[in-house]
Amino acid sequence: MSAVTYIAGKEPHPREHRMIFRNVDRKGWDVSIEAYSKDGGYAQLEAALKMEPKAITDEVKKAGVRGRGGAGFPAGVKWTFIPPNNTKPVYLICNADESEPGTFKDRYIIHQDPHQLIEGMAIACYAVGAHLAYIYIREEFPEGAKILEKAIAEAREKGFLGKDIGGSGFDLEIYVHRGAGAYICGEETGLIESLEGKRPYPRIKPPYFPAAMGLYLCPTIVNNVETLCHVKHILQMGGEEYAKLGTPNNTGTRILCVSGDVQKPGYFEVEVGKVTLGEVIHDLCGGLKPGRKIQAVIPGGSSAKVLRGGETFKIKRGEDMVEIGLEDIPMDFDTLAACGSMAGSGGVMVIDDSRSISWVLNNLNTFYAHESCGQCTPCREGSLWMKKITDRLVAGKASPDDIDTLDSVARNIDGRTVCAFGEACSWPTESFVAKFRDELVADTKPELADAIVNAETEVAAANLR
Ligand SMILES: Cc1cc2nc3c(=O)[nH]c(=O)nc-3n(C[C@H](O)[C@H](O)[C@H](O)COP(=O)(O)O)c2cc1C
Ligand code: SF4
Repeated sequence: MSAVTYIAGKEPHPREHRMIFRNVDRKGWDVSIEAYSKDGGYAQLEAALKMEPKAITDEVKKAGVRGRGGAGFPAGVKWTFIPPNNTKPVYLICNADESEPGTFKDRYIIHQDPHQLIEGMAIACYAVGAHLAYIYIREEFPEGAKILEKAIAEAREKGFLGKDIGGSGFDLEIYVHRGAGAYICGEETGLIESLEGKRPYPRIKPPYFPAAMGLYLCPTIVNNVETLCHVKHILQMGGEEYAKLGTPNNTGTRILCVSGDVQKPGYFEVEVGKVTLGEVIHDLCGGLKPGRKIQAVIPGGSSAKVLRGGETFKIKRGEDMVEIGLEDIPMDFDTLAACGSMAGSGGVMVIDDSRSISWVLNNLNTFYAHESCGQCTPCREGSLWMKKITDRLVAGKASPDDIDTLDSVARNIDGRTVCAFGEACSWPTESFVAKFRDELVADTKPELADAIVNAETEVAAANLR
């Protein structure tokens, strides 16, 4: 691979470690297969096709790369879940739905380096024995879908897709499938239902773990765009070398998408756990707006539990328990989980002290109420109920009791639904109430308590009549 120079003014921040985003904003770069091939493109696929498929999975396992779509599950381990005595076709699906609010990395990868994804997918397909793969991309990314279709056609023409790739005897076709733009189509089993042409009602797990019973009830590996791009780099470096990037159990690089109240929002590819939240805000993003303080941070996409400015956390470091502040949190999967939130999809949302907490929570609740697929009652009814309460809160028409009701509704969704949307929609409310109760209560009107109870009783009575 040749040395990279970037377009003036678009150079990566010195703290970045660009691997997946290596070619983003690169001088003289375009999305053609010629540009990609000149830079050693598809060499890893050619090398992979000379390896035993299991040896590739072993490298991905050694690398320890964890899924970048949200759950952070190790990719190599997931690949081994295909039943060993399987006789059905195996499918691979690239999840390009990118539906989690605050996340905007997959679209950039697709727009600026589509062949990296196709090469990663082809290697992954060879490793898991898939001859048919899909890229499920949301409707709102029409340009991305066109770029991918062109790239697939180019790869096919050059013999990197199709029959007998590189004389290896391995056949593979990749198709782009455009969704209709629904958050739930990012959930892997909802996605699979949608791909089968049905309404995207998520399937219950167990038994419908995609690796065992996925597309057309055949073994299916679903991975995020960014996860699949890592596969090519793992093969190039070797799993052990790759695992030296990042921190133990949190290996490699990951793209953080930072939005909200910072001077320079944007995407930053960093080694996992090698930068703290404070460094992300003050160093990578140029700090807060003048005179402002951090009020809250949602560190891993809208479903991640909120962290409060000035909060401290007790975490394990080696054998010791240590106390760290919000800004000292290393941005890795394990530490964010230990701090009660999650690294999720890498979408970091910074909320300064100019924002109304009630407004922020209402914004989140409005999204989730709109996106619930409606299959299970706690989520369908609860997400709308939470929105109605925070609608009242921002309109100055909520009573203090509403905050307890809000919390109770959230806690009756969490853990009682078919899919993890239940947690995704209840965790924001649970954590905002836990950490910002005073701010929420301050927006209520004690004198409304009786009026609201009476109004609700009247509605309930009318419904019974
Ligand atoms: C409500 C919901 C929405 C999701 N949206 C996405 C998404 O847009 N993109 C994505 O890659 N994963 C999304 N996921 C996670 C997927 O279900 C799945 O875990 C992921 O695609 C697996 O890829 P990975 O292991 O490479 O992360 C979502 C999960 C839930 C519960
Ligand atoms: S939890 Fe919500 S989104 Fe998931 S299946 Fe149930 S109703 Fe649908």
